[in-house]
Amino acid sequence: MNIIAIANQKGGCGKTTTAINLAAELGKREQRVLLIDMDPQGHATLGLGVHDRDQPGLYEVFSDELSFYEVLLSDVVPAVDLLPATITLAAVEPLLTDQPGRERQLLEQLERYGQHYDYVLIDCPPSLGLLSINALRAAQQVLAPVEASLFALDGLQQLHDITGMLSDKYHIDLPVKALPVMFDPHTRFAQTILRQIRDQLPTGLSGVQIRHTVRAREAAWFGKPLIDYAPHATAARDYRRLADEMLAASGLAVVTPPKEALEPPHVTEQEDNHMTLTGKRPQRQMVVLNFDEIECKRLQLAGDFNNWVPDQDIETRHVNGHWQKVFTAPPGVYEYRIVVDGKWQQDPTNPAEIPNELGGINSLLQIPVHH
Ligand SMILES: Nc1ncnc2c1ncn2[C@@H]1O[C@H](COP(=O)(O)OP(=O)(O)O)[C@@H](O)[C@H]1O
Ligand SMILES: [Mg+2]
Repeated sequence: MNIIAIANQKGGCGKTTTAINLAAELGKREQRVLLIDMDPQGHATLGLGVHDRDQPGLYEVFSDELSFYEVLLSDVVPAVDLLPATITLAAVEPLLTDQPGRERQLLEQLERYGQHYDYVLIDCPPSLGLLSINALRAAQQVLAPVEASLFALDGLQQLHDITGMLSDKYHIDLPVKALPVMFDPHTRFAQTILRQIRDQLPTGLSGVQIRHTVRAREAAWFGKPLIDYAPHATAARDYRRLADEMLAASGLAVVTPPKEALEPPHVTEQEDNHMTLTGKRPQRQMVVLNFDEIECKRLQLAGDFNNWVPDQDIETRHVNGHWQKVFTAPPGVYEYRIVVDGKWQQDPTNPAEIPNELGGINSLLQIPVHH
């Protein structure tokens, strides 16, 4: 059993994305995987498509209401069991505060019930309370996703301090491996950060970097691992390499994933979102979007399908006060916004939406494959 805590005190640095995708990828290699959602926000649980807010989890286990097995959800993705989390997990900290051995609770459960897993991945919360301490006490190693920003480096330093504290207080030596995520290999800034991480953690830098891809957020939104939602996205391939690295480190031969998961060579990010599983590029489809209720002088369209340049490669028709936008794009899922008299906004005629990185909302468009 390999127990890996995916931790970094900084929020939004890719912990949950890494937990979900690494778990799914190891499951594909015929490893038995347990993913423990240790964050009361329950993002790993949601990201695997489990939306039940009353789902029992570790709180019920630690308070002896249910057993470990009773709260497990089996095979949420092939070969991956999930120990889900909901907001009730936040009540664990006050529950455990006065108990002896309060920071060993998870370890004891895993010693008793976790034996038949090859990998246990723990998705940690972005704080250093009892939940994180329980995860770190149970873990044999820490995988710390680090975003290529200076702020993230700070989080890495804090994590170092924690493992230092664990070794002083509990005499456990916990190796920390940093995993660069949301990486843009083309910027000099990212290369500088990579060098700094290497300097700070000379032995603990993963040889794999997870590249930035817009598909990561969408996959989470649709409750699927990237490798199922967009198997050819750059980051999906990077997580495959991370699983290889992990299996190689544990002395296991790297099992080749099933054929349909094999990637076509030399696909760039721009292209890879729209490849089918057979590797053939599907035909572009004609798309007509109607905006009937919007009164304005100018309505433009920008999205993943035209590099977010308003009206680039888009034909506009304005008939009887109704706007119509016509363009072609390969099948896939696209984010877009409209620009109404120069003002960017989501499409009010489309209920499918997803939060964007700037705190706003993008609209979602799915272009199906026509045969
Ligand atoms: N490789 C990536 N490329 C682009 N966006 C990513 C990538 N990895 C994660 N994200 C996005 O960044 C945000 C934070 O990631 P998440 O895994 O939830 O972080 P954490 O668990 O550390 O809070 C999410 O919206 C997620 O979809
Ligand atoms: Mg998270």
